[in-house]
Amino acid sequence: MQGRDTVIHALSSLVREHQVLSALVDSLAAYARRLLEPRGAAPRDLAAFTRVLSGFADELHHEKEEEILQPILSRHGFHWQDGVLAEVRSEHERERYLTEVLSQAAECELAWTAEDRRSIAATALALVTFQREHMDKENHELFPEVLRRLSSSALEQVRAGLERFDRAPRHVALGVELLRVADDLIARYPSAPRLGSGAAVALGATLGVR
Ligand SMILES: [Fe+2]
Ligand SMILES: [Fe+2]
Repeated sequence: MQGRDTVIHALSSLVREHQVLSALVDSLAAYARRLLEPRGAAPRDLAAFTRVLSGFADELHHEKEEEILQPILSRHGFHWQDGVLAEVRSEHERERYLTEVLSQAAECELAWTAEDRRSIAATALALVTFQREHMDKENHELFPEVLRRLSSSALEQVRAGLERFDRAPRHVALGVELLRVADDLIARYPSAPRLGSGAAVALGATLGVR
């Protein structure tokens, strides 16, 4: 691919994953709200949310951003130790920590008390807010800057690197399994449309991503 087509497709897999993650965190917010209702929400579903968050968001998506995208950006003029790349990596760390806290709660064998439910809902909503802000930063600051500053050949390196990662058999298998779990959660914990929730979709449309 050359020129504009390369630019359009370089980040498309990351943008598509943001669309999935955006829908997933909207569902996690619905789950957290339901935890506070009298009938509550199933504790086992928290384990499913944390499985997708640690597997799909962290192991697949963040790893692509940190191990493929960021090293290429640092070779093409982006600072590694400060600025947006360092901020994004430190936000990934924070998301890992919040996911781990939820994971521990999901593994607890004792029945959740009302206080446990309030605490889990608060942590889940903190993660939802944090993840939305993080993706907004990538969608509206980092990705446009990447497309503006990188040459066509550097963007082609990004595109090819992301595609290689996506095609690794282990990543394909993990992605298929986790997307199935994510689809189920998104269907069972629907949320009302949120102001700004179409950001990733709008960016995807701008980039020509279906
Ligand atoms: Fe990220
Ligand atoms: Fe991202």
